[in-house]
Amino acid sequence: MLQKIKKIISKKNKKKIICLTAYSKNFATEIDKHADIILVGDSLGSVLYNYNTTRKVTLKNMIEHSKSVRMGIKKSLMVVDMPYKTFLNKKEALRNSIKVIKETKCDAVKLEGGSKIKKIIRHLVRNNVPVMGHIGVLPQSVKGKFKHKGKTEKEKKQLLNDAKLLQNLGVFSIVLECVESGTAKMITKLIKIPTIGIGSSKYCDGQVLVTDDLLGLNETNIRFVKKFVNLKKIINQGIKKFKKEVISKKYPSKKYSY
Ligand code: KIV
Repeated sequence: MLQKIKKIISKKNKKKIICLTAYSKNFATEIDKHADIILVGDSLGSVLYNYNTTRKVTLKNMIEHSKSVRMGIKKSLMVVDMPYKTFLNKKEALRNSIKVIKETKCDAVKLEGGSKIKKIIRHLVRNNVPVMGHIGVLPQSVKGKFKHKGKTEKEKKQLLNDAKLLQNLGVFSIVLECVESGTAKMITKLIKIPTIGIGSSKYCDGQVLVTDDLLGLNETNIRFVKKFVNLKKIINQGIKKFKKEVISKKYPSKKYSY
């Protein structure tokens, strides 16, 4: 197992794991200074391309953005999402995962799903592909509004079974997306690998957010998104200053000219 992955697992019950998304080099460079895991999420479909579903994201999209992200990472574990329909069967899943790892030099891939994709995850792990799991709300499978999971006894049981199954199959951590607090707490307590929550309470071993959301670049009213800074405001200030100085001919002065 990769040293970096061992380090992530060893944080369980000791230190919170910080995971953030990045889709390009400049963002990755800054995030890398603070995060344990950088995820090239297929959320890039909605954030960068305005898609109404992550289903439109292609393997090519993921590979191109991941190559850029790779250039910005020095220390974090780099995980790349396998997009919709790229892991339909064992053979395709392995071929596509290896392609992603070879071309982007990422450390691991993330696949959405629990028991339904158990054969695929087992096949990847057996072939030395490090896998991060993802259960709860699965954006690649949802049509319409996201509803949080783990409210009913049936859902709770299903999620716990899926988490245990993924652990037994050898994934090194599991993203819990929009899982009810009590259920997320129980899963986190009952499995040995770290849970990374998004909208799944403080009880998870780590937290992930879409970086554009926490920086206030994305207009969203999703309940779990907290805007930690208003980067739009800062961007506007910079652009306005540039415009003003161009109009007043202050910029470019001699210092900035040849
Ligand atoms: O696509 C993504 O960015 C994700 C995270 C939000 C977990 O899957």
